Amino acid sequence: MALEQRPVGKLDRAVIFLGPPGSGKGTQAKVLAGKYQVPHLSTGDMLREHIAKGTPLGEKAKPIMARGELVPDSLVLKMVAERIERPDCSQGFVFDGFPRTVTQAKYLGELLKRQGFKQPFVIHMIIGTALLIRRITGRRICQAGGEIYNVYDRPPKVEGICDNDGGELIQRPDDREEVIKPRLHAYEKLTAPLVSYYRHRGALHEIDASKSVAEVEEEIEQAVASMRGAG
Ligand code: AP5
Repeated sequence: MALEQRPVGKLDRAVIFLGPPGSGKGTQAKVLAGKYQVPHLSTGDMLREHIAKGTPLGEKAKPIMARGELVPDSLVLKMVAERIERPDCSQGFVFDGFPRTVTQAKYLGELLKRQGFKQPFVIHMIIGTALLIRRITGRRICQAGGEIYNVYDRPPKVEGICDNDGGELIQRPDDREEVIKPRLHAYEKLTAPLVSYYRHRGALHEIDASKSVAEVEEEIEQAVASMRGAG
């Protein structure tokens, strides 16, 4: 077993990554979930999977996501509730891109209480807009394994090819420049209010997401360790 995959203890709760598009939620959520050996639950990835499979939910979500808007709460909540009821979530899980509205946060609070989980930890990824745009337009994703690259800051060894599994690297349709503005607008209007929502509950930890991947990872590790220590 690789060192980074060894469990570092029990998580026993939900960790939420909260931050604007491109702030590095997916990159860091995957690492944290790997460390604690719990599922990484990205609602964006789940929705993209529905689109790829052509399910009724995927058909509804596709044009909404292409416009950079949020998928209605009613569709997302059902999808999440079904996912976290599965046995692999019994030791905790890491959310990336959920909750995204106050309605989603309240619903999640009820679900977690019902399943006997403590209050979630929330990692707030803070970063300026210019850097976000660079990260989003430079992002490429492995179509096979989902590994995330960046043509500016995290390029693959061979252009267009995943280092891990040789999969083709693609650009997400909503990473086109004309869709970035509506995505950032949706974040400011609907998701940013969650920062004060969780801060009032004492569950929020702020991270400087403009640093390198390794530095951000280190800050998150320390934040989670201190939150676990605090019970
Ligand atoms: P989603 O897939 O969640 O996208 P997002 O929130 O817009 O976030 P991103 O995936 O764009 O960015 P990220 O923060 O994960 O950054 P990443 O780690 O990839 O949602 C897509 C759509 O689905 C939404 O618009 C909505 O329509 C719908 N949706 C999803 N959830 C929903 C919900 N709950 N309710 C309603 N609708 C929902 O990093 C970005 C790039 O930067 C990468 O190239 C990476 O390599 C690079 N990078 C990362 N960290 C660093 C670093 N420290 N230094 C340098 N480069 C870095």
